[in-house]
Amino acid sequence: MKSKITIVGAGNVGATAAHWAAEKELADIVLTDVIEGMPQGKALDLMETRPVEDFDTSIIGSNDYKDTANSDIVVITAGLARKPGMSRDELFEANKNIVQEVTTEIVKHSPNAILIVVTNPLDSMCHVAKMVSKFPKHRVMGMAGILDTARFRCFVSMELKVSVEDIQAMVLGGHGDSMVPLPRYTTVAGVPITQLISKERIDAIVERTRKAGGEIVALLKTGSAYYSPSAAVIQMVEAILKDKKRILPCAAYLEGEYGIKDLYVGVPVKLGAKGIEEVIELDITNEEKAALQQSAEAIRGIVEQIKL
Ligand code: NAI
Ligand code: 2OP
Repeated sequence: MKSKITIVGAGNVGATAAHWAAEKELADIVLTDVIEGMPQGKALDLMETRPVEDFDTSIIGSNDYKDTANSDIVVITAGLARKPGMSRDELFEANKNIVQEVTTEIVKHSPNAILIVVTNPLDSMCHVAKMVSKFPKHRVMGMAGILDTARFRCFVSMELKVSVEDIQAMVLGGHGDSMVPLPRYTTVAGVPITQLISKERIDAIVERTRKAGGEIVALLKTGSAYYSPSAAVIQMVEAILKDKKRILPCAAYLEGEYGIKDLYVGVPVKLGAKGIEEVIELDITNEEKAALQQSAEAIRGIVEQIKL
């Protein structure tokens, strides 16, 4: 039987995620939104792309959660996006209510689904989804680390003028300016970038990675990035549906790993059919640990404001 994924929020990230997933023929797709007609229009437009791009995925648009029933994976992109000058944390109050409402409906119709949260502020929205759904921690996760590492990899490739395919990177921590890119674990064909790029340039690339979301917001002026975020979330969907056991950085609920308790933080995990099958603990230096703790405390500050 074909798998089914629901994408809640048919805006920039949601609709583009549907596009990537449809082209990969990963599953039947349901695209939902509160705006009447909009998800239906985008779904139909994608359906009409099929003869040109040669894929047979079914994509339906809906404003009714009944159509999402028995989804294997639900991607939550519903919510407000940043405008220039705004931080992700400023979206907290509005998006908390939206994620709470969406999760409540999803749980009623797809009690066995795996939830992947995209809505910002990412790490605290994962908490909302976990608290509302009461799903086990391996079935509630967030997308940010793949995006942040993709940006890091992109900037390293631009610096060294080598293929992105040969670059691996690691970014830990929250999806915010306190994220922790790890140059020691960032390699080109297996060689750490600390042997290839000067400290001064690495520092500049790390800083650009931390601020990369804001760089796009400042250019777009009307919203935030969506091509790379949507591709990143579909990489997670693919890893789960194909039980690939990929090691990818995701927001995972930690219960003591990295010395962090009861908090969603970005860390490398093994992603397979069950969702998060393992949290991978990297050997990190005291300095890296301190930066990760600082990032975790920034998340905790927001999470403590969640009152449902
Ligand atoms: P967008 O404004 O283009 O789309 C959001 C959609 O959500 C809109 O179509 C809106 O009608 C819908 N929506 C609002 N309330 C809803 C509800 N209760 N139920 C269903 N749909 C609802 O925004 P975009 O660019 O797609 O971003 C979506 C969210 O993802 C934002 O919070 C943004 O900050 C976040 N984001 C997170 C990233 C990450 O790395 N975790 C990366 C990029 C965006
Ligand atoms: C980004 O990093 C807005 O969180 C989003 O582009």
